[in-house]
Amino acid sequence: MSTQLITKLPAILDPTKMPQHVAAIMDGNGRWAKQQGLPRIAGHQQGAKTVKSLLRCCKDWGIANFTVYAFSTENWGRPAAEVDFLMRLFEGLLDSELSQMYAEGVRIRFLGDRSQVPISLQKMMDRSTEKTRDNRAVTFNIAINYGSRHEILQACKSIATQAQLGTLDPHQIDESIFARHLDTHELPDPDLLIRTSGEQRLSNFLLWQLAYTELHITNTLWPDFSNDEFTQAIADYQQRHRRFGKV
Ligand code: FPP
Repeated sequence: MSTQLITKLPAILDPTKMPQHVAAIMDGNGRWAKQQGLPRIAGHQQGAKTVKSLLRCCKDWGIANFTVYAFSTENWGRPAAEVDFLMRLFEGLLDSELSQMYAEGVRIRFLGDRSQVPISLQKMMDRSTEKTRDNRAVTFNIAINYGSRHEILQACKSIATQAQLGTLDPHQIDESIFARHLDTHELPDPDLLIRTSGEQRLSNFLLWQLAYTELHITNTLWPDFSNDEFTQAIADYQQRHRRFGKV
């Protein structure tokens, strides 16, 4: 994050109706790079700039949680060079941005199964979480090697183990107990999900948590998703009447 820049809340937004949790499926980096005649990795680098810019907006505009889908359990199927680049990019970004994020009050958390990511990245993830654990200006959740079905299965296994050990009565299992076993425990469910590049699917992202989330799907490619478009997405969200299944 750059120094001392404060992004003012745009006048069209109602400060009393800000989402408390925004999640993003950051799609279209590869297509953006192709459009520019650049290699795919340039799209990811540019995409990282969008992440930084939106994280700053969240912090400055009072959005307490920002969650990004950085690498899915399916993304291992990409060419090895791209996977390797992404792992290094995550590690490099955490390394170079950590002090600034810490200074600005960002709390960093991770979603996903870290056991398969490179050890050096795991160490950087631990360092980032540890250093920023008491920060509260904004919580930045990065999903790496994340898949929602895997997360739900892990929760089921953990609950089943507790039941087997006799520390949990199966009849007491309810939504809040279940949610406590997910990687997102402590976080409110997302109010708004942004998906860029026009794809209209959830791609195994936060399937439990998105049950009542408002969706914003745009054709814009992630590297081009600007603060202005973020503002518009929130303005649209503020117009919606959320019923949570009630009348
Ligand atoms: C999807 O676009 C993007 C990814 C799989 C990687 C996202 C990573 C970043 C934006 C880097 C920065 C991340 C953090 C946490 C700072 P795509 O490659 O599928 O694009 P395409 O559909 O156009 O090929």
